[in-house]
Amino acid sequence: MIKLVEVTKKYPNTIALKDVTLEIEKGEFVFLIGSSGAGKSTLMKLLYREESPTTGKVIVGGVDVSKISNDNVPNLRRRMGIIFQDYKLLPNQTVYDNVAYVIRTLGMPSKDIDERVKGALKIVGLSHKMYSKPTELSGGEQQRVGIARAIVNGPPLLIADEPTGNLDPATSMEVMEILNQINQRGITIIVSTHDHTIVNHFRKRVIALDGGEIVRDVEGGTYD
Ligand SMILES: Nc1ncnc2c1ncn2[C@@H]1O[C@H](COP(=O)(O)OP(=O)(O)OP(=O)(O)O)[C@@H](O)[C@H]1O
Ligand SMILES: [Mg+2]
Repeated sequence: MIKLVEVTKKYPNTIALKDVTLEIEKGEFVFLIGSSGAGKSTLMKLLYREESPTTGKVIVGGVDVSKISNDNVPNLRRRMGIIFQDYKLLPNQTVYDNVAYVIRTLGMPSKDIDERVKGALKIVGLSHKMYSKPTELSGGEQQRVGIARAIVNGPPLLIADEPTGNLDPATSMEVMEILNQINQRGITIIVSTHDHTIVNHFRKRVIALDGGEIVRDVEGGTYD
């Protein structure tokens, strides 16, 4: 599903990733950990082509993402769901419209859109808030909208960069349970986090970065 081969990413004054090689199989759940500045977000940005590697190869779903043209980046991103720490919802649109937004741009019949949006909202347990605005929701509910939006197009891969970074411990656990359930449907999930409790609770594959290098990669791992 994902393959990084000897990837280095340099910014003007920083080497964010150093010779990173890794493979993630279809259906895996991976925690990406490491202190602030370790390179977690940079690694994720390479996957959705927000950044390109300085050297090395980034392959997602069989496609070398550094080789696709800018015109094809939206196409790439439609095959993955991206979840952000700060949700990035449209504040003046309803929950329903936030989730429907991307598939509407694909010109799907409105009956199909309706089915998919309601299905995604059901998975995250927000069917009853369909017509609320994001400002009327708690942080945890807003992130669940973010998850519904990410899965509505049925992507094989979800990338979540500190999805619980703004949430309290109990709400973080609820959000992570939802991601775990989605993973059990066969969707590959990569989550970056600083949350020890969550990593230690779920015991998934843990990839630790330090100074842009992979320093640990274990199945069923803990934070430390
Ligand atoms: N656009 C940029 N321009 C220059 N340097 C950058 C840029 N983005 C990130 N960096 C640098 O690259 C390094 C890795 O940053 P990155 O955002 O990947 O870290 P992170 O592990 O996600 O940290 P955090 O836990 O704080 O989110 C840092 O030293 C950062 O300052
Ligand atoms: Mg980050």
